[in-house]
Amino acid sequence: MKHFNYREGELFCEGVPARSLAEKYGTPLYVYSRNSFLDAYRDICRAFAKASPLVAFSVKSCSNLAILNILREAGAGFDIVSGGELHRVVKVGADPRKVVFSGVGKSDPEILQALDQDILMFNVESEAELDNLQAMSAGMGTVAPVALRLNPDVDAHTHAKTTTGKKENKFGIDFSVASRIIRNIAEQPNIRLLGLDVHLGSPIYSTLPYRQALAKLTDFIKEHRSPRAHLEYLNIGGGYGLLYRDQAVPSFQEYADAIIPFIGKTGCKLILEPGRSLSGNGAVLLSRVLYTKNNGTRHFTIVDAGMSDLVRPAMYDAYHFCWPTQYARTPPAELFGSPEAKDYLNRETGEDWEAPPSGAVDAEGFRLTDVVGPICESSDCFTRGRRLPVLERGDLISFFSAGAYGFSMSSNYNSRPRPAEVLVNGGESREIRKRETLPELTAGEAWQ
Ligand code: LLP
Repeated sequence: MKHFNYREGELFCEGVPARSLAEKYGTPLYVYSRNSFLDAYRDICRAFAKASPLVAFSVKSCSNLAILNILREAGAGFDIVSGGELHRVVKVGADPRKVVFSGVGKSDPEILQALDQDILMFNVESEAELDNLQAMSAGMGTVAPVALRLNPDVDAHTHAKTTTGKKENKFGIDFSVASRIIRNIAEQPNIRLLGLDVHLGSPIYSTLPYRQALAKLTDFIKEHRSPRAHLEYLNIGGGYGLLYRDQAVPSFQEYADAIIPFIGKTGCKLILEPGRSLSGNGAVLLSRVLYTKNNGTRHFTIVDAGMSDLVRPAMYDAYHFCWPTQYARTPPAELFGSPEAKDYLNRETGEDWEAPPSGAVDAEGFRLTDVVGPICESSDCFTRGRRLPVLERGDLISFFSAGAYGFSMSSNYNSRPRPAEVLVNGGESREIRKRETLPELTAGEAWQ
């Protein structure tokens, strides 16, 4: 996380100390680095430059208007999956011709909204959806631009809950059904078939699934191109990896080197839908330690952020590195990939462990602990058996790589107001979403 650095033992986001942000805006607090988003966007554009792709940022990963606006100004398009996301990108002035709309369950009002905005294309996920789109666009006297999202039945070897490209997943259209759709496309006069689309899962730490899917897609394109089915766009989706712990993450260049040759063979225009790889390193979640306790078998560090603020550990057993924002020694976060980091990570115990006798701290000043939130669920647990410097009430800690699927998956569970979001640019910070208030929590409810 290039823009989140420790200087003399203190965590900075770009030029601003994390501590000062927590004091000014309170905790839990999402802190975003503007330059992290810009760097990542420029990196992916540079790596794929030969193919001049449309880079459609996946809004679901991080949907604050200020973030969308940064990427829009840099030239990005957007991958949306709801009317709400369309509302967001329209609000920041996105060019609708750079917007693609995915999702298996687009409702009629959402389809109308998107037809009305004249978006670049719908990524259609079933024959039934295509029939509905035909009927709706005929009703509006318009023609709907469409890519067929295919299910390539490729295993992306990612978490069971985030894999999308296998037959048993709800996403995409079977190749034989897609063939039938194309054969009969003349019966859908209000559909313009522009291309094919896939999204394989998230995150994918290998280029192999992309190559496997593209081999199938390029064959399909060769067999099915016709005057009524130009298939001029090929959308390979998102899924590019992010370093959370000690994974080997292919660079954008490696993904590009795997993908571009297939695009060359088809002469298609390339669309990418990166989410996590642009937003993941763009934010940390700051949280304060409320209490610590030892129940005889395990040590707990109870912090003021919960699964309502960052659900990934509870939902996917996801690893987020965490570390105090003030700590004299270089944190392993800065050593990722190095032997020291491996050594440190290897000494975490993970799931099943028993704390040494109460209060035990090792010679290096570390203690094994479970960092947990205040929510009344045992799954409200950020780390298990994590080796952390001794933490006490009032200490500030940071959860790293929280920019993707962090705030955007937050909720009001346990009637907790959602945290504030702050954007840092160089030495300046500004609130880009206020902390929710108690009256806002109940604003839409009628109790009498
Ligand atoms: N395109 C489509 C159609 C998608 O469904 C997704 C993510 C993306 C692009 C972006 O994928 P990315 O580049 O971010 O990997 N909540 C989970 C991840 C769910 C991903 C859903 N779809 C998590 O926190 O890991």
